[in-house]
Amino acid sequence: MTSKTKRVGLLTGGGDCPGLNAVIRAVTKDLLRTHIEVVGIEDGFLGLIEGRMRPLGYDQVSSILAVGGTILGSSNKANPAKFATELDEHGEPIWRDVTQQCLEHAEANGLEGLVVIGGDGTHACAMPFVEAGLPCIGIPKTIDNDVYGTDVSFGFSTAVQVVSDAIDRLRTTADSHHRALVLEVMGRNAGWIALAGGLAGGADVILIPEHPFRVDRVVDKVERRIKRGRRSTIVVVSEGAKAMGQGPMVRRLDPTSPDPIKFGGIGAWLADEISTHSSVDARNVVLGHLQRGGTPVAFDRVLSTRFGHHAAKLWNQNVHNRMVAVQADRMVDVPIDESAGKQRLVPLDHELIAAARSVWTDFG
Ligand code: F6P
Repeated sequence: MTSKTKRVGLLTGGGDCPGLNAVIRAVTKDLLRTHIEVVGIEDGFLGLIEGRMRPLGYDQVSSILAVGGTILGSSNKANPAKFATELDEHGEPIWRDVTQQCLEHAEANGLEGLVVIGGDGTHACAMPFVEAGLPCIGIPKTIDNDVYGTDVSFGFSTAVQVVSDAIDRLRTTADSHHRALVLEVMGRNAGWIALAGGLAGGADVILIPEHPFRVDRVVDKVERRIKRGRRSTIVVVSEGAKAMGQGPMVRRLDPTSPDPIKFGGIGAWLADEISTHSSVDARNVVLGHLQRGGTPVAFDRVLSTRFGHHAAKLWNQNVHNRMVAVQADRMVDVPIDESAGKQRLVPLDHELIAAARSVWTDFG
């Protein structure tokens, strides 16, 4: 029988999201009970590359449940298997595999395993360590809710609440001025935030990447609402949504990031289209990183604690290389590479779409 793990490293990778600290707290507190030490690795895999880590104990994780961000810091650029150490004379990144360097830092710090809290990119980054014999447990994180293998990831509900609150505010000013307000939300290629946030806020139009939209349908909806005496129209558009026949709008490319495409601009473009082709004046708001900052809502605090407890349980049972997940509201675990190269997108026959249509929400 393999001997029980005595010390694990824990890192938060990729874009941050509300609930990361709640997970750090849950894993650390639970493992303390069974005398497994936790070492916090700073700034995601970057800290493992550079050997930056510090012990986590009760005092470090007490009182962080409701704190946004991550006390450890994160990085969405540091992939040890393909790490940009410098730029060449053309400004192109020079890639190196620094997995061995990370393994040496892990060994020097007595790490017998890793807890990696992140999305598909972070879990993919963990695979070379799994293959090298350093066991890993993954915990799915992202406001986008697009991690394959779990029905839900923490951070999503908080982002949806932010969207819903924003719509409530936009509705009153839009009503005052008889305007259309276009709210651009995050989500990359997945429309979950726009769909759930739009539903929660009573948006009149929801546009998601999975369903290319027709601008004339959106304009038509705006006009029909005015004719019926509605004072405003709220359009929620996912950053990755695209008009029929067009690609998504890319704000910039970051070749050093595992997620090189940075979306942005669809909201401004659509507001101009509405202003030009309808009788209604339109404005746009980009909600941006407001969706990722701040304190997690109660649902995410509970989910983070459940995830953390399940991850700790796996270490105590000597079960390795799994990602904790929720399926049909039950805590389960799946192979850690389950999400690699896959995205959990919105199926067009999803009941949330049917529910939105039932209250006359248009999908363009
Ligand atoms: O994946 C989370 C996310 O917030 C996406 O919704 C968004 O497209 C992206 O990260 C933004 O990344 P960055 O913080 O690098 O701008």
